[in-house]
Amino acid sequence: MKFTVFFLLIFFFASVSHTIHGSKNRVPLFIFGDSFLDAGNNNYINTTALDQANFWPYGETYFKFPTGRFSDGRLISDFIAEYANLALVPPFLQPGNNQYSGGVNFASGGAGALVETFEGSVIPLKTQARNYKKVAGILRQKLGSSEAKLLLSNGVYMFSIGSNDYLSPFLTDSDVLKSYSHSEYVAMVLRNMTSIIKGIYKRGARKFVFMNLPPLGCVPGTRIIDVEQNGECLQQLSDLSSLHNRVLHRVLLNLAKKLKGFKFALYDFNTDLTQMMNHPFKYGLKEGKSACCGSGRLRGEYSCGGKRGQKEFELCKKPNEFLFWDSYHLTESAYKNIADRMWGFTNSSYNIGPYTVTDFFQLP
Ligand SMILES: *[C@@H]1O[C@H](CO)[C@@H](O)[C@H](O)[C@H]1NC(C)=O
Ligand SMILES: *[C@@H]1O[C@H](CO)[C@@H](O)[C@H](O)[C@H]1NC(C)=O
Ligand SMILES: *[C@@H]1O[C@H](CO)[C@@H](O)[C@H](O)[C@H]1NC(C)=O
Repeated sequence: MKFTVFFLLIFFFASVSHTIHGSKNRVPLFIFGDSFLDAGNNNYINTTALDQANFWPYGETYFKFPTGRFSDGRLISDFIAEYANLALVPPFLQPGNNQYSGGVNFASGGAGALVETFEGSVIPLKTQARNYKKVAGILRQKLGSSEAKLLLSNGVYMFSIGSNDYLSPFLTDSDVLKSYSHSEYVAMVLRNMTSIIKGIYKRGARKFVFMNLPPLGCVPGTRIIDVEQNGECLQQLSDLSSLHNRVLHRVLLNLAKKLKGFKFALYDFNTDLTQMMNHPFKYGLKEGKSACCGSGRLRGEYSCGGKRGQKEFELCKKPNEFLFWDSYHLTESAYKNIADRMWGFTNSSYNIGPYTVTDFFQLP
């Protein structure tokens, strides 16, 4: 009898301390950026099918319905949330979403660091930051300022941004790259990104996770821009992403020096994706160049789903054998592969550091 009470007491205190511990160390995930991370915000804005993925066959593999994710299934951020024991992080604009304590997804397909990037069709990073400010205000009202501050500073802030700033001049007939040198343009993109990051930091964020840019000239959609490329990478565009990536690393080191408590993890998405593209078999894939869904050469024409002006498209039978789902985005199996390395389950040597996303969910 005494023993029973004793054990019940132990059990009771263990569960109380677990609960306290759990709320104190709650680490929400806030997501910003472009279609690599958009979980459906663009379903709720006035835009065109070019910047949406809320139609079949998007989502066919995992969700069995189109959620707005630009893939056949889950995204890198969905796997990171899962590994961190969080529920799927809901889009900010999803009606009825007012539970912010596990994080929010602000990302928008087509968005860039520059307001001009696909202007009018996307939620630019600057507006995403403004939406974060709203959420921070709501959390302060709900939890009180000290608890909200703790939650926000514990949070992990994940970014994928920049790709569209470089893609858009090539995909629209813009002359912007004629009026700026490549290094001036990269500097402008990163200055805009930096000032937005500083604003998010000011509202309480401390733990930042960045993916650098993929080799942008080597996705199916950009391999076919010019017939004379013959399906090869568009070197000028890949060079821009490499330049951006070199400067990005310096910019982040600088921010960590200047802003007290600013911590970052940087993932070398560029090298990782290049390896996957060149050696798909090493990653359990069969095809590293052509998309699963689309039309024309390498299925590089952005027609997946038939809602973007062109009705006909081809769809592969086994998306999990492909690196690219559509002309610009990866399959769920590729995203999982990458998330596993980002988390450190498999080869973690693409984490450039100084922190990893895993550190951020474990550190106070
Ligand atoms: C959506 O955008 C189109 C084209 O820009 C415009 O004609 C229409 O009025 C907009 N609709 C709303 C509800 O804002
Ligand atoms: C941000 O980009 C705009 C162009 O979109 C540019 O005019 C402005 O100078 C940039 N801001 C900073 C702080 O560099
Ligand atoms: C891990 O990734 C690095 C960087 O690309 C590579 O050099 C190394 O061979 C990989 N190791 C394994 C075991 O795959």
